[in-house]
Amino acid sequence: MTWEEAMAEATERLAAAGIDAPQDEAQRLWRAAFPRRYVDHSETQDGTTVKRFLDYVARREKREPLSHISGGRFFWNHRFQVTPDVLDPRPDTETLVELALSEPFERVLDLGTGSGCIAVSLLAERRNATGVGTDISDKALNIAARNATNAEVDMQLTFTQSDWFANVTGTFDLIVSNPPYISAAEMAELQPEVRGFEPHLALTDEKDGLTAFRIIAEGAPRVLTPGGRLLVEIGMTQAKAVTQFFKAAGLEDVTTHPDLNGKDRVVSARAVQ
Ligand SMILES: C[S@@+](CC[C@H](N)C(=O)[O-])C[C@H]1O[C@@H](n2cnc3c(N)ncnc32)[C@H](O)[C@@H]1O
Repeated sequence: MTWEEAMAEATERLAAAGIDAPQDEAQRLWRAAFPRRYVDHSETQDGTTVKRFLDYVARREKREPLSHISGGRFFWNHRFQVTPDVLDPRPDTETLVELALSEPFERVLDLGTGSGCIAVSLLAERRNATGVGTDISDKALNIAARNATNAEVDMQLTFTQSDWFANVTGTFDLIVSNPPYISAAEMAELQPEVRGFEPHLALTDEKDGLTAFRIIAEGAPRVLTPGGRLLVEIGMTQAKAVTQFFKAAGLEDVTTHPDLNGKDRVVSARAVQ
């Protein structure tokens, strides 16, 4: 089988599986199969070499996420290891990172850190800052710790297993969180890659999608320093509810921010001075 034949077969199979941009995905799978070296296309004459690529195509046909097959995802300025134990970092979340970096901070708390993509990205940009990443999932924290080491922020960032604020100590001038905010009703509408392969704990509260925001609103004023900031990622219909929670908790300057597609994506607030 030549490289052209392998790509043509992969593109056709991925298209039949309902995958958008199948040619682009076939190329990404090829790069995942041969990540670190230049591959002479004549290698595809060797059946074992092609087999690895076609195995990846078969997994993708079953709608396994590309990040699980390749083992990683690029987010902000780093490649993050991704496994079925953590949410695949989304480009939408870069909106939160950008907003967090728009003001100085010294100590950040990332609630529900998952792969660690938010905390790691922030601390890699602010070498004098330190922080804590929390998650209820020990398995996620193991991946986050590996990602912190890979990005060389492991001296700045510690991890704590915690049900939201339960095991959090100390104060922070920045709290960030991208909590599970998909409602039970919305779960059925998700893409097969998300519904079938990503951890449900990372996606949904199995209720109205707002549980974590209520807890974060109530707990944040106790751990924020005066004037400290809180930024949370939200689903596009949740700005009004989250704004109410934050105002009811006594937070100030409550503001909704859009993502690059113009959809409500982040709500920010500030502790009383
Ligand atoms: C939407 S994912 C976000 C992961 C990562 N911060 C990101 O932006 O890609 C939500 C994370 O919250 C964690 N989580 C769920 N329930 C939690 C709880 N009660 N306390 C702490 N973390 C929780 C999940 O394990 C998951 O890693």
